[in-house]
Amino acid sequence: MRSLIDVFYYLPAYICRRKFLPLVRKKDFPLTEKYVYLSTASIGLTPQPVIEYLKEYIGSLLSGGTVFLDEKEEENTFENLRKTASDLFNCSPYEVAVFSSVTESLASIAWALPKGGEIISTSIEFPSVVYLWLRIAPDKKWTVRLVDPDPSLLIEEDAVMEAVNEKTRAIVISHVEFLTGQRFDLKKLASRVHVTGGILIIDGIQAAGHIPVDVKAFGADVYISGSYKWLLGPMGSAVTYIRKDLVDDLNPGIVGWRSMQDIWNLELKIPLKYAPGARRFEYGTSAYEAKVGMWKSIEYLDIR
Ligand SMILES: Cc1ncc(COP(=O)(O)O)c(C=O)c1O
Repeated sequence: MRSLIDVFYYLPAYICRRKFLPLVRKKDFPLTEKYVYLSTASIGLTPQPVIEYLKEYIGSLLSGGTVFLDEKEEENTFENLRKTASDLFNCSPYEVAVFSSVTESLASIAWALPKGGEIISTSIEFPSVVYLWLRIAPDKKWTVRLVDPDPSLLIEEDAVMEAVNEKTRAIVISHVEFLTGQRFDLKKLASRVHVTGGILIIDGIQAAGHIPVDVKAFGADVYISGSYKWLLGPMGSAVTYIRKDLVDDLNPGIVGWRSMQDIWNLELKIPLKYAPGARRFEYGTSAYEAKVGMWKSIEYLDIR
């Protein structure tokens, strides 16, 4: 009986959504009147309602200073995005940190990892995913091992699994490769690297927004996505999931006033005592409009 009521109640809404939503949404991307836009893997188009919201926000911020951006509003800038990103990733807000780019997020996390051991990635990754491990390796005494692709530029998952050993500190890889679109079975990689105590760090900028992301189901330890591709936000924002039982032991690579429990208590806290949760990775003022835009664009996508 209950399922019959559900059919009558939800079916019309479902049909309307399928039939009319694409038309409404097309209006939100005026460029598509002129172009078939196939460049979202580079820069996604931001929906018109998000652009309108941002125009208002930037105007109020620039002309209103602290009268507009009071302490609560400034905290909310990150909190709203944290909450929306946690719904997107299927994790708790406690496990989400807000950054300004994928590279910045990866760098702060890399510096937070212990010394020694091996970092595994591939030789066809997006440069930022690999460069910073090479940069930090001499300081942290890591060896960086890059798995090569086959002649068609695909990475054999088994080759990545075979590269893992008891020295592996982390596998760092894209969820979807920027060059080939190859999508990895993250669950498989996570279960392999966890056997010997390593972690799985994922760059999800080419995935989040167009394929489902469920960090818990994947078993990922860190999952990062930037704002401006498939999530359709403005440039200058990124969100990062860091697993709860990992994050509180991490000493972020970049810290500042926002890394503390009470961000408005500006007395020096020595020795450093960070906020619990992923929020400790946030450190200071940044392009807030980009964070607001990412919050609104994820909301617009209405994925979960
Ligand atoms: C896989 C991947 N990671 C990262 C980036 C960009 O990172 P960032 O936000 O630091 O510029 C890109 C951009 O094309 C990318 O394709």
